[in-house]
Amino acid sequence: MGITVKNLCFTYHGSSKKVLDGVNLKIEDGDFIGVVGPTGSGKTTLLYCLNGLIPNSIKGKFYGEVLVDGVPTTSCKVSALAKKVGIVFQDPDWQLFSVTVKDEVAFGLKNLRMNRVEERVREALKTVGLEGFEDAEPYRLSQGQKQMLCIACVVAMQPKTILLDEPTSNLDYKNTKNVYGLLRRLNREEGKTIVVVEHDTDLLAEYAEKILVINDGKIVKNGSKEEVFSDCRLLENLGIKIPRGWF
Ligand SMILES: Nc1ncnc2c1ncn2[C@@H]1O[C@H](COP(=O)(O)OP(=O)(O)OP(=O)(O)O)[C@@H](O)[C@H]1O
Ligand SMILES: [Mg+2]
Repeated sequence: MGITVKNLCFTYHGSSKKVLDGVNLKIEDGDFIGVVGPTGSGKTTLLYCLNGLIPNSIKGKFYGEVLVDGVPTTSCKVSALAKKVGIVFQDPDWQLFSVTVKDEVAFGLKNLRMNRVEERVREALKTVGLEGFEDAEPYRLSQGQKQMLCIACVVAMQPKTILLDEPTSNLDYKNTKNVYGLLRRLNREEGKTIVVVEHDTDLLAEYAEKILVINDGKIVKNGSKEEVFSDCRLLENLGIKIPRGWF
C-alpha cells in the first residue's frame, strides 16, 4: 500500500515559516528513493512527517495528510507506526545510549512489547555485520559500526519502510559503501522501501531508483533518477551536484 502524502503543510511551533508547503507524494512499496535539496529546504522535516514524529511528537501547524498503508499518521500511535516506518537519524552519537550493543537493539523491541526479542536482536546484528559485538559498549564502536548499529535497531523492528537522514555524512568512503550496500540488500532481497536524504548525488546515481528534489518546502521534481539527473538546469539552479558521468 505504501505511503501517500496529500497536500502536506507544516510550520514548527513558535515559527512563522511554512517549512513544508503543499507536498504531494506517493511512495510505493519497494521503492528506493533519494531525497535531495538545498540546506533548510525541508528534507529532514519531510522524513519526520513520514513516520508520524510530526505531528504526533513534534508540534506545529500541520495541514494535509500522511497515510501509511492507508491509515493517517494522526490516528496511529507512534509505537504502532514504528513497526511500519523506521527512521535512522543523522547523528549516531545521539541515538545510542545503552550499555551494550545487544541492549541497544533490544530496547526498542521491548518498548513496543515485541516478541522473539533475542532472536530479532541476533538477526538484526547479523544483517548489519555486527555479530560478535553483542556485549561491546556502543560508544567504543567506530563511526561506521555505530551507524550500522543504528540501522540494526531499526531493522530489528522489521518495518516495511526505512527512512535515513544523511546516514553517511560522518563516514569514510569504505563505510559509506558498506551502508549503501546494506540498503541495497534490504531493498532488493527483503523488499524494504528505502527513503534516504543524501547530498552525495554520485551515491544516489549508483544506488537509488527514484529521486525527489525539494526546494523551499515544495517538491520541485520527482521521478526516476535518469529523468531527474538529466535535468541539469534545475540541479544547477539549486546548487545540487550533477552526478559524475551524467552529462
Ligand atoms: N525544531 C524546529 N523549530 C523551528 N524551525 C525548524 C526546526 N527544525 C527545522 N526548522 C527549520 O525548518 C526548515 C527546514 O529544516 P529541515 O531541517 O527540514 O531542512 P533540511 O532540508 O533537512 O536541511 P539540511 O540540509 O540542513 O539538513 C529550516 O528553515 C529550519 O531552520
Ligand atoms: Mg536535514
